[in-house]
Amino acid sequence: MPYSNNFDVLVIGSGGAGLCLALKLASPTIHVAVLSKFALTSSSTYYAQGGISAVFDADDSIESHIEDTLNAGVGLCNPEIVRLTVTHGKKSIEWLRDQGVVFTEEQNQSGESQLHLNREGGHSHRRVVHSADATGKAVSLSLIERAQEHSNITLLDHHSVVELIIAPSSDDSTQKKVIGAYVLDTQKNQVKTLCARVVVLATGGANMAYIYSTNPHSSTGDGIALAWRAGCRVSNMEFMQFHPTCLYHPEARSFLISEALRGEGGKLVLADGSSFMHHFDPRGELAPRDIVARAIDHEMKKRGIDCVYLDISHKPAAFIKEHFPTIYQQCLHYGIDITKQPIPVVPAAHYTCGGVLTDSYARTDITNLYAVGEVACTGLHGANRMASNSLLECLVFAERASEDILLELPTIELVQNVPDWDESKVSDSDEEVVVSHNWNEIRHFMWDYVGIVRTDKRLSRAMNRVELLKKEIAEYYGNFRVTSDLLELRNLVIVAELIIRCAQLRKESRGLHYTLDYPETDDSKALHNTILKP
Ligand code: FAD
Ligand code: SIN
Repeated sequence: MPYSNNFDVLVIGSGGAGLCLALKLASPTIHVAVLSKFALTSSSTYYAQGGISAVFDADDSIESHIEDTLNAGVGLCNPEIVRLTVTHGKKSIEWLRDQGVVFTEEQNQSGESQLHLNREGGHSHRRVVHSADATGKAVSLSLIERAQEHSNITLLDHHSVVELIIAPSSDDSTQKKVIGAYVLDTQKNQVKTLCARVVVLATGGANMAYIYSTNPHSSTGDGIALAWRAGCRVSNMEFMQFHPTCLYHPEARSFLISEALRGEGGKLVLADGSSFMHHFDPRGELAPRDIVARAIDHEMKKRGIDCVYLDISHKPAAFIKEHFPTIYQQCLHYGIDITKQPIPVVPAAHYTCGGVLTDSYARTDITNLYAVGEVACTGLHGANRMASNSLLECLVFAERASEDILLELPTIELVQNVPDWDESKVSDSDEEVVVSHNWNEIRHFMWDYVGIVRTDKRLSRAMNRVELLKKEIAEYYGNFRVTSDLLELRNLVIVAELIIRCAQLRKESRGLHYTLDYPETDDSKALHNTILKP
């Protein structure tokens, strides 16, 4: 095997979590590879708008950020993880600034420059550090540039992981360890064997399991499915977050209208201009996301309307253009001038609160396998993630994982005698339509039956379809050469199953999981996370 396929650390994912970790680990003696299944910028990180939460305001406090996060998570956040994350906010922002990320600033009363802070749902203070309304792009481009400059980071775009390579652990035969991954080079159409001493999943969320999503195409839950097949526990998958305000326009299926618009006074209204959020929560437009998304869903279903509207046109046009240049331009492109008219919006799948169960150092159940960022379930978000806590989690847990990996690496040997991927029994597919059809089918029934409002019946309908599709997809996978779409489909059906199974186990409504059969939050039993074991 050529030397170039051996690495100290293999990071699967080039979003905020993966790149941050790679930059913290790589050194003259530590060679890190970072994979992305499409372009390096094809990540949710690149599209993040509102910003990153951290306590900077003199009137704000760590305790307040903790309290808001715990409230949004409706009893299921792990308080220790929340404290750990929140206390690292300032340091994480400083680290990003050291990497060249430029955040929006303003002048304070003494004429000094300071970070401008956005306000978003669930936050009791202004505490969201941002780069206008394109924070993710600023973060992503800076981190990619730093990684490209690093002589010991190998960036492999258009490389999609097929399967993790697992072996029995040397010290304990009942325990498994990861030793690398089979990876499809989608440009050469060739499966490579990459060996590594440590493998990190930084593959993002599973929000493409739904037909309407704010996410880029890459969010098909691959890391969750890879870890599950390898033997890791997965937790809290019922808590899929729907962002309340995705642009509703036939040509713009996944453009987000940032919560920061509501933070600056944007009002949710019906077509006749009447507002409705105050009927649902005293915090109105700035209630946590689960409440706002459900309120919009309720209004849409009750009135049989296709969308509601977000109106910020009462603010001065110059203010809107300065604070929300990307949203202003993008809406204008679709013929909507947000300085003069309300924006048509609908909820869409946005964030996966559950994922691969990890500890406070991002370790999974498999030795030498870590999971960081949206793919992981650290305990930070509980039943509902608070806005802008996700990028913070990516940064903090990349730091935690790097600390642990640096300690462990000297004791981990590279395993190289790994068999290559066997394609001797498969041929090229002659029926690609099976893949595209099944992709669409999953995403439609997940939206209809496992969406914002669930019932036992809807969940069991969805599960019946999953069972059929799993068989069909397994057969197809066994017969045909792998393609990027087939790999994603195979993962998507697993994450759909995990979401449904977790939802079926929760016999109450809490946070993002709302079911008409058990509409109340049930605090009479001990609070529990939903944990699935392979
Ligand atoms: P991602 O950034 O999604 O990166 C995943 C990477 O994994 C990609 O490079 C992808 O190509 C790669 N990958 C996936 N599968 C494979 C595979 N099989 N093989 C190889 N590579 C693979 N959060 C905030 O905190 N603040 C915000 O303002 C904010 N705004 C958002 C706006 C939008 C439109 C969206 C979609 C999300 C937003 N979020 C925000 C959420 C946040 O952006 C994400 O949770 C976070 O960026 C996830 O980072 P990540 O590194 O874990 O994953
Ligand atoms: C937004 O800008 O509304 C997205 C923020 C987030 O998902 O945290």
